[in-house]
Amino acid sequence: MPDNYASVPLRELANGAFIPSIGLGTWPLDDIQAGAAVAHALEAGYRLIDTAENYNNETGIGEGIGTLPLQVPREELFVTSKFNVQWHSVPGVRDAWENSCTRLGLEYLDMFLIHWPNPDAGNYVEAWKGLVKLLKAGRVRAIGTSNFTIDQLQELIDATGVVPDVNQIQFSPFWLDEKRLAFHAEHGIVTEAWGPLGRGKHNLLETEPVLAAAHAHQVTPAQAVLRWHVQRGVVPIPKSADPERMAQNLDVFSFGLDPAEMAAIDSLNGSAGAPVSPMEFGH
Ligand SMILES: NC(=O)c1ccc[n+]([C@@H]2O[C@H](COP(=O)([O-])OP(=O)(O)OC[C@H]3O[C@@H](n4cnc5c(N)ncnc54)[C@H](OP(=O)(O)O)[C@@H]3O)[C@@H](O)[C@H]2O)c1
Repeated sequence: MPDNYASVPLRELANGAFIPSIGLGTWPLDDIQAGAAVAHALEAGYRLIDTAENYNNETGIGEGIGTLPLQVPREELFVTSKFNVQWHSVPGVRDAWENSCTRLGLEYLDMFLIHWPNPDAGNYVEAWKGLVKLLKAGRVRAIGTSNFTIDQLQELIDATGVVPDVNQIQFSPFWLDEKRLAFHAEHGIVTEAWGPLGRGKHNLLETEPVLAAAHAHQVTPAQAVLRWHVQRGVVPIPKSADPERMAQNLDVFSFGLDPAEMAAIDSLNGSAGAPVSPMEFGH
């Protein structure tokens, strides 16, 4: 196992790669904002950068990586991208990979995800076969899904025998999906959380259990929430374009929440409406 990168612990994935325990989200940053954010983030110690074809900022992210003042070895970077439904076929995924690599200025992607299952299009199993092919050819270090349900994940595993390394889902104390977490754990799929801070809505960072945990550990509410994710075994990818917040969000490995604090934060589940349904939404 490689050493931790820049003090961020690594997690081993089902297909053998290692993912940092926290990453940087980059939606809805444009190319210019994303380039600046990535340069700050890498300097602060982030190694996992999350983007997607649909964010229209891969070019900026590539420039942010390329104009880095400090030299981060390529093998330490864990750049994740995701592709849209138009590429849900074996040759389509190969084209999507090529396009993302070109925009990012990278020779390979660390992780490539099916962004949404789009069940109406009915081709996510073909998309998965395309990803398996890329993995076997060494063009990506890890492959996975985003917004997939338990049944959809099972379908991919049944069709190919290959388990997704990661399922990136909408997850936070507001959307604590125990059933999906249990399925992921049973199959060795790492849960990655989008919207880990509640997407800046519904005042997650002002709720009583979060404020109490933050106060008890002399950390910020965002740090308490991100620590909750880490202790839940989930990899959060909080988005911030603010260098101070970025540094703060990464600094969650020197304190721990006790079981009562974890349970109090768990109790926020369901208090902010339903998460986006992957059966009805996608791109
Ligand atoms: N797979 C998918 O379908 C999917 C969907 C949506 C998003 N994502 C990914 O997940 C990432 C994160 O999700 P998200 O952006 O929706 O939500 P989020 O990370 O939960 O919340 C982002 C909001 O929190 C604020 N924030 C960040 N750090 C903070 C801190 N320390 N204190 C107070 N506020 C703080 C940010 O403001 P500032 O920027 O002003 O700091 C922003 O308004 C996205 O950027 C994207 O990469 C994936």
